[in-house]
Amino acid sequence: MNKEVIFHKDVIAKRVKELGQDISKQYENEPLVCICVLKGAFVFFADLMRALTIDPEIDFVRLASYAGSAPQEGKMLFSKDIEVSIKDKHVLIVEDIVDTGHSMEFLTKVLKARGPRSVAIAALVDKGERRECKVNVDFSGFALDKGFIVGYGLDYDEQYRGLEGIYNLKIQD
Ligand code: IMP
Ligand code: MG
Repeated sequence: MNKEVIFHKDVIAKRVKELGQDISKQYENEPLVCICVLKGAFVFFADLMRALTIDPEIDFVRLASYAGSAPQEGKMLFSKDIEVSIKDKHVLIVEDIVDTGHSMEFLTKVLKARGPRSVAIAALVDKGERRECKVNVDFSGFALDKGFIVGYGLDYDEQYRGLEGIYNLKIQD
């Protein structure tokens, strides 16, 4: 598998710091729960939480598709739900990459039904090419037109999550 770096680790670190500042400013003195979408967002989440100057609650979700349905069909469920209450609190979903938008559309809808003050999305990468749902990324790290990327938590078939930078994967035939 051939891969070339597209976001070097120093570039990511700088951008995550900036996002941390923006988010801290936005939610200063407000009750906030930051929700990490497993597995892909775990590295971004850990760095982003340490870039904040505020002290939010944190929790984790893992999404899955119903057996037999493709993720693009939007038939999703929690394979792990959050454990804290979000009622009357602001919610920030922290995601690795928004692609078709189905995951974020599902999660936003389900969380909004639980009575939070607001629900926003922070995504390290906002990938536009295959978007099928209207999803607004409130805090976006990087915009990407197209391609399949790995590293910094993102995987291809559970490989490459530990790479420090983000790479464009070229699947050769
Ligand atoms: P969705 O299509 O917006 O629902 O994206 C769902 C998930 O697909 C993301 O959270 C990622 O875990 C995964 N994904 C989408 N694009 C990529 C990519 O380029 N590399 C690695 N994972 C991806
Ligand atoms: Mg993900």
